[in-house]
Amino acid sequence: SPCGPIIHGLEDVLIKSTSISDIDGEKGILWYRGYRIEELARLSTYEEVSYLILYGRLPTKRELEDYINRMKKYRELHPATVEVIRNLAKAHPMFALEAAVAAEGAYDEDNQKLIEALSVGRYKAEEKELAYRIAEKLVAKMPTIVAYHYRFSRGLEVVRPRDDLGHAANFLYMMFGREPDPLASRGIDLYLILHADHEVPASTFAAHVVASTLSDLYSSVAAAIAALKGPLHGGANEMAVRNYLEIGTPAKAKEIVEAATKPGGPKLMGVGHRVYKAYDPRAKIFKEFSRDYVAKFGDPQNLFAIASAIEQEVLSHPYFQQRKLYPNVDFWSGIAFYYMGIPYEYFTPIFAMSRVVGWVAHVLEYWENNRIFRPRACYIGPHDLQYIPLEQR
Ligand code: CMC
Repeated sequence: SPCGPIIHGLEDVLIKSTSISDIDGEKGILWYRGYRIEELARLSTYEEVSYLILYGRLPTKRELEDYINRMKKYRELHPATVEVIRNLAKAHPMFALEAAVAAEGAYDEDNQKLIEALSVGRYKAEEKELAYRIAEKLVAKMPTIVAYHYRFSRGLEVVRPRDDLGHAANFLYMMFGREPDPLASRGIDLYLILHADHEVPASTFAAHVVASTLSDLYSSVAAAIAALKGPLHGGANEMAVRNYLEIGTPAKAKEIVEAATKPGGPKLMGVGHRVYKAYDPRAKIFKEFSRDYVAKFGDPQNLFAIASAIEQEVLSHPYFQQRKLYPNVDFWSGIAFYYMGIPYEYFTPIFAMSRVVGWVAHVLEYWENNRIFRPRACYIGPHDLQYIPLEQR
């Protein structure tokens, strides 16, 4: 460009330092606060992982109990938010989630206090306490919003959260109105653990941009949800399963993969990643879970079989090998969800339910040393054109 190099898509641009998560894209490794994702997936729960991400260290037994109890208290929504969700019953749930988070923010008194303080540039101990409380509320409320939307979209009454169930099990309970199968709860919990943070993808960056203006946490999360909605980001798991359903049989895998290698051809959803140039470690874990899940409940729509056939084609095709394109987390994650009876338009909202903790943790980290995001663009149009009145054009 005439003004100097343009960094298209901000590829490899560093926007801050962080101690929340780290990715080794070459080796395919992901850490949260220094812990390998495989360890957390095997041994932890979303409750504990979200605490770790938010507060920077694993909780003691007592701290975890207190945190879980606070989260249970925060699960309910403001009546105005419930109405927003009801009014958007026919919309895609990501629109409802975006609007409901904004509505909840408009009615949260803690948020109003924080907004007032930020408006006069105050962000001290008292305000930080408010901000962390709001962060916990956001994590706690997201499943309620998603489940309520599902109920309204089916013309059903909502199922209120149940205090004796954990985060994942309670979510499935609010969706379907019955206690979930333990393997299904484990699947949701595992998915939530695997998606909790991922450095600064488009949604997390969007949250930073909004927060950097000292707008509030709910608004930052609403912006992140808007960014996550796109098919190049969170929308890919929904698209991947739609694809498998459309393909219908593993015999067509070769044809589909071949089509994706043609110039201008449709991209294979759930394949490729800006950062991972190796097999996505989250995809490995979720592939195993999906295999266990279909082993127990069957694979009537052939989704696991189709995905496996596509994977085999992708891994052996020179087009994908040369470009270091591997299945990403979205390639496998929708399969178990589909068989749990979760409609595919709810896959991305469940991604948001998990990532919300990463978004808020990053915003709180950024606020420790805030500077408004204000990049530049290189103008390449004309200057000083003469205005011609409408009747003379
Ligand atoms: N199918 C076919 N070709 C692909 C694919 C794909 N899924 N992904 C990348 N390519 C090709 C692309 O056409 C380009 O080829 P060429 O060099 O000949 O022009 C090359 O690989 C590099 O791709 P890119 O688009 O420049 O890579 P990017 O870093 O800009 O995009 C991506 C990354 C994830 C947006 C992209 O791989 C993609 O669109 N994948 C499908 C959607 C998807 O699965 N998204 C979920 C991402 S993981 C979940 C998350 O973290 O949100």
